[in-house]
Amino acid sequence: MVEREQWGTRIGFVLAAVGSAIGLGNIWRFPYMAYENGGGAFFIPYLFALLTAGIPIIILEFAIGHKYRGSAPLTFAKINPMWEWVGWWQVLVSFVISVYYVVIIGWAISFVYFSLSLAWGSDSVGFFTGSYLGLTDGPFQLGGMRWGIFVAVVIAWMVNYVVLYSGVKRGIELANKIFMPLLFILVIIMAIRGVTLPGATEGLNYLFQPDFSRILDYKVWTAAYGQIFFSLSICFAIMIAYSSYLPKKSDIVNNGFMTAFINCGFSLLAGLAVFGVLGFMAHAQGVELKEVVNAGVMLAFATFPTAISQMPVAPELFGVIFFLSLVFAGLSSEISINEAVISSLMDKFNAPRKTVVNIYCLVAFLISLIFVTGAGLYILDIVDHFINNFGIVFAGLLEVILLSWFFDLNKIRDHVNPISDFPVGSWWSFMLKVVTPIVLGYMAIANLYGDITTPYGGYPTSALIALGWVVVVGVVVFSFVLKSASWKNKGLLSDDAVQ
Ligand code: ALA
Repeated sequence: MVEREQWGTRIGFVLAAVGSAIGLGNIWRFPYMAYENGGGAFFIPYLFALLTAGIPIIILEFAIGHKYRGSAPLTFAKINPMWEWVGWWQVLVSFVISVYYVVIIGWAISFVYFSLSLAWGSDSVGFFTGSYLGLTDGPFQLGGMRWGIFVAVVIAWMVNYVVLYSGVKRGIELANKIFMPLLFILVIIMAIRGVTLPGATEGLNYLFQPDFSRILDYKVWTAAYGQIFFSLSICFAIMIAYSSYLPKKSDIVNNGFMTAFINCGFSLLAGLAVFGVLGFMAHAQGVELKEVVNAGVMLAFATFPTAISQMPVAPELFGVIFFLSLVFAGLSSEISINEAVISSLMDKFNAPRKTVVNIYCLVAFLISLIFVTGAGLYILDIVDHFINNFGIVFAGLLEVILLSWFFDLNKIRDHVNPISDFPVGSWWSFMLKVVTPIVLGYMAIANLYGDITTPYGGYPTSALIALGWVVVVGVVVFSFVLKSASWKNKGLLSDDAVQ
């Protein structure tokens, strides 16, 4: 039997887990989420979500990946053969995220280049949606391939390919050892620059000033939980795969805490940088901050370029730093998202890494080209909404219910406590058994109700069905199809868990 690959060092594993967690989600999604959902008041649900779900689940995933030494489908199959499909569900969610996430990295690569000449000029919205994306009138009008984006997406795929082909230690670990320190340096520079710009305080006040009237709104809570899940890369097969490469004697609990806290600390730093800059921009234009903040991807690719152009010194340099940080953060996450799928295929079909990486990268690259068309942004927006609100939330709900109600969590505690720097107590089981299922269950129903009663984003129903519901249902159907294929190496299933 082929030996399972392993991380070279503990720090290598932690950096890879942190690299997966810190991604595009921290740099543009977190600040915007916080702003939208009550500013400072958002931190209460956010911290609650971190402590009740984020940290308990990350420890759970590190624990089962390590104990059963398998990708998500293999791990679930070893716990109970009937649950293998839950692992595939998570893998397929990762696959869907991978094919659009890589395109956003492509945009960031292009914008590193555009920053050199501040190519967006005085109309950054028109530049991004018009000249660059060539945005059409609707999700079904593809409008042809955007070759500028194509080149950038090819570059992003090539980095992924080389890293994944090189394996766990020589590829993923090494890449994170390079990307992560660079990313931290870049974000610290940005935060310092951000908070020292004239008008920055206005932006920071917006981010931190609590609007307590929002705290009882369920949407604020679901947004906080959604942000924690996406940001910590939990419930989409990644952390299980990554921890399956840990050596036998490895700390689990402390690594989980470290990953979660470093990720959230990074989000705060990015928040300082982004809102310092937005405050500066509002100040420079003499308008209210509300008027300059844009939603979602527009924040990074339209609002930010305008702010960059107005910087008093070296705007080009700030632009390069901002977009490079998106590229590094994005790549290290994209690599983990792809690895979640690759490790599962290697396990199931007993195939060598190089063969799987060759086929997988080619297929995923071709599918990602849908998002490189003139309708790319619309399709991306719909797919992202549905996969986050339903794919991840329901997968998470299933995972915690199955593992905490139909499996003995004490077995997992007994596994992690002797090897960890410090143990987990009964609080951990309580969070997984009671608190997380209640909140996630509520979230799942609220999301379902919300989407059925109010069509997302004002898109035509046909588009929401074809690109949203069909994708989500397709993920579930395919998870059963993959489960029904037979394991090429049955020995893997009976291979003893780490005792
Ligand atoms: N955890 C990754 C992010 O936040 C996927 O972007």
